Amino acid sequence: MKIPFFKPWITKDDENAVIHALRQRWLTNGPNLEKFEKRFSVSLSSKYSLGVSAATHGLHLCLASLDINPGDEVILPTFTFSATADAVEYCGGKPIFVDVDDETFNIIPTKVKEKINKKTKAIIAVHYGGQSCDMNELLNISKKASIPIIEDCAHALGSLYNSKKCGTIGSLGCFSFYPTKIITTGEGGMVTTNNYTLYKKIKTLRSHGMNILPSDREKNASWEYDITELGFNYRLDEIRSALGFSQLKRLNEINKRRISIAKIYSKLLKNVKGISIPLIKKDRNHIFHLYPIKIDDNYHLTRDQLFQKLYSKHIGTSVQYKPLHLMSYYQKKYRLKKSDFPNANLLEKQILCLPIFPTMTRKEIDYVVSKI
Ligand SMILES: Cc1ncc(COP(=O)(O)O)c(C=O)c1O
Repeated sequence: MKIPFFKPWITKDDENAVIHALRQRWLTNGPNLEKFEKRFSVSLSSKYSLGVSAATHGLHLCLASLDINPGDEVILPTFTFSATADAVEYCGGKPIFVDVDDETFNIIPTKVKEKINKKTKAIIAVHYGGQSCDMNELLNISKKASIPIIEDCAHALGSLYNSKKCGTIGSLGCFSFYPTKIITTGEGGMVTTNNYTLYKKIKTLRSHGMNILPSDREKNASWEYDITELGFNYRLDEIRSALGFSQLKRLNEINKRRISIAKIYSKLLKNVKGISIPLIKKDRNHIFHLYPIKIDDNYHLTRDQLFQKLYSKHIGTSVQYKPLHLMSYYQKKYRLKKSDFPNANLLEKQILCLPIFPTMTRKEIDYVVSKI
């Protein structure tokens, strides 16, 4: 048996949606993007949704819309993908890394509070693996200090916190449609907000800082446009929007399947000595974008040995993440102290994400568990 870490789930309907989009005249800036954004807003109960070419670009736009400039600080977890911090660097800002909880792997609110000062301009809350951060605690901190929260929802399409949808709790949310994510467009992402000013600003910045899009110019029988700000080309084209729209129709089914696979894993692994299964907090769900286990000293192999063993049995696993304070770019630039991040340091040695994808069969789950 060969079980990759992840397999995208592309149906005939998805393929037809892409072919249909390819046959339209507008291959970007067209009706498919609008349709996808509208459905995304309904699905999330967010006022505005903006398709973008990647979550990395979406995060950049979120920070730019909040006027993050050189000298500004943005607090974020060290246990995340580099894009979360890179987006701050793109703005000339300084990422301030914070340790994470050793059970949920999410940012620790008290540690966030300790890092707030006059230079702090935003907090990025990453909902690791598909389980929400402690949003009440973070919102209290953010309100007291008048500092906005961006939710990095790359893993969290369908995650709930006290029945509220992740991506609508902070000032801005940012989702990824990279192939391993909950739904995919190949590359792509979505920014969500209930704030009209931020929406307008991101919409302009996404498309070169242009005040009128080509399709609207055509409708208005006018060629003229202005560049009102220094913008980017961070658009989500029509082909990918059509795929996203088609995938979004299956969101509930996708998450239902992920959750049931995780339940089987947890049932079968919970009594294995030296292995900890993911913890789910009471006031939130977990949609298991990732199924991370921790391997401690009581297990008969180290995490790296288990990774190698599973690899030799044709089972793909992944270490998400090597913390950012240990990445050479950030380490060299900010001379970060390893001892400031004890939980993330341990996770770097212990975490292993098992294969999980919507089409995974019971046989495949049993095979992975039997090799562990
Ligand atoms: C937590 C997190 N944030 C941001 C990103 C960036 O997403 P994208 O690949 O869509 O740019 C990822 C991608 O893996 C991620 O895991």
